[in-house]
Amino acid sequence: MNEKLFATAKSALDQAYCPYSGYQVGAAVLTKSGKMYSGCNIENASYSLTVCAERVALFKAISEGSLDIKELVVVIKGESLPSPCGACRQVMAELAPNAEVYLASDSGKYQVQTVDELLPNSFTGKNLRDE
Ligand code: THU
Repeated sequence: MNEKLFATAKSALDQAYCPYSGYQVGAAVLTKSGKMYSGCNIENASYSLTVCAERVALFKAISEGSLDIKELVVVIKGESLPSPCGACRQVMAELAPNAEVYLASDSGKYQVQTVDELLPNSFTGKNLRDE
């Protein structure tokens, strides 16, 4: 795992806006050209409007013109490892299909998975084009 990317994701934890769940999540993505973008979860009193940390980081990268994401780190506090929700897995399949995804605790424990392992046989643009 890229140590600087881990540190970036870990410090994003402190920005988590999670007054309803109290569950802080930080994320960061690394592009092939070496750029990093971080994100945290942002909750809403209208619960379904909540956005996960992974999607915030991914959307920041895309909105700055970075489509070449090679690593994504997700960090939570404590000893257990995070598990991205289904919506985030679908967004990863769209925006970072070749990324290595590191699921980490703030203590530095982690496991790494591909997007295809997280969401096998995903629905993509290929399905729409009948390829
Ligand atoms: N959450 C994330 O930000 N990323 C994950 O991988 C799992 C869940 C957030 C959404 C919500 O703010 C809180 O964690 C509890 O679901």
